[in-house]
Amino acid sequence: MLSLDLDYVRKQFPAFSTPSLEGQAFFENAGGSYMCQPVIDRFARYFEQRKVQPYYAFAASKEAGMEMDLAHVRLASYLNVPADEVMFGPSTSQNTYVLAQAFAGRMSVGDVIIVSGQEHEANSGVWRRLEDKGITIRIWEVDPDDGRLHIETLLPLLDDRTRLVAMTHCSNVVGEINPVRKVADITHEAGALLLIDGVSYCPHGFPDVDALGADIYLFSTYKTYGPHQGVMVIRHTARALLAPQAHFFNHDNPMKWMVPAGPDHAQMAAANGVIDYFDALDAHHGGQDDKNRPSRVAALFKNAETPHIKTLLDYIGSRNDVRLIGPADPARRAATISFVVPHLSAGAIGQRLADRGIMAGAGHYYAARLFSQMGLDPAAGAVRLSFVHYTSSADMTKLITALDEIL
Ligand SMILES: Cc1ncc(COP(=O)(O)O)c(C=O)c1O
Repeated sequence: MLSLDLDYVRKQFPAFSTPSLEGQAFFENAGGSYMCQPVIDRFARYFEQRKVQPYYAFAASKEAGMEMDLAHVRLASYLNVPADEVMFGPSTSQNTYVLAQAFAGRMSVGDVIIVSGQEHEANSGVWRRLEDKGITIRIWEVDPDDGRLHIETLLPLLDDRTRLVAMTHCSNVVGEINPVRKVADITHEAGALLLIDGVSYCPHGFPDVDALGADIYLFSTYKTYGPHQGVMVIRHTARALLAPQAHFFNHDNPMKWMVPAGPDHAQMAAANGVIDYFDALDAHHGGQDDKNRPSRVAALFKNAETPHIKTLLDYIGSRNDVRLIGPADPARRAATISFVVPHLSAGAIGQRLADRGIMAGAGHYYAARLFSQMGLDPAAGAVRLSFVHYTSSADMTKLITALDEIL
């Protein structure tokens, strides 16, 4: 099993050598990761040398356009889809907003959308609001005890009017990696499309979207070490059910048809930096061929994160005053672990962690409906500890020591 060279990794992130962050252990990665140096370098070059309208004949403009096009190609290759299935928008929330308009433009009154109860609001409210247009919304409820989704409760919701199932690859609160391939097969059998919110999954390694079977796959690069952008993979299978949302003369442009305004050029160019980082990381760890690079990088991340997931779950399991959200089995989880404690508010725990040099979240993380389904007060929220491959064993020890003092 190849293990991660953590010294090398942390050198790629300026945050780890920034005096103001010294001594801080970062456990709020699900809200947004640190940015890697190649992304910052690409921003600097774009703003200094290429900050002009792209795709014209002059050199700076050509280079700007080429760098933007390259982002489509390189992200697509990591996601195992063709480049003309990748589009950029300002954020995943704005992308789902646009996609909801696109679906509404092709659906009929009485058509059905199924939305899971685990969703961040970005993948929930936009669909629910289509009820105003006569679309029927069915909620695939979570198990109220642990917040998990079970396929058996999806099956009775599917019928021949179902057009879309919207589900997260991994909830930003529950942290379980959902069985996307299985759900894709069931959804396709019913004649519907599957839209997956991959925002909380992708920081832990980009997936093979083709193998997953999702028709639409979304994530945000500011959580994957990059710029503040939303990425949409829209497979060719989904095109017929989507009305283009771009200016009319861009309806046939594969990079623009689902993007109402122009994309943010510099952010797109800088998105290449995420792939620069992944490529360099793989090469540093001896990777040679291009083909298996994405799965090697994902394996490096997983190998680094899994022991830490186990450490934290073991600690939580050792306390009978802590209610874990999501499964206790580390193999089922990404490194996003939330919990509530009856005698102490999440806000108070967040403050005490901050006092001890631990950056962690407290709140409902825009998954307020999930909290309500689980009988939890969204206003009180939960503590969330989210970490990624650059988290160190020293960070984990510091966290567990602090939790032991606080709880
Ligand atoms: C699981 C999940 N989905 C969607 C979003 C929304 O992403 P964005 O901030 O790009 O709109 C978030 C953001 O926190 C998230 O965690």
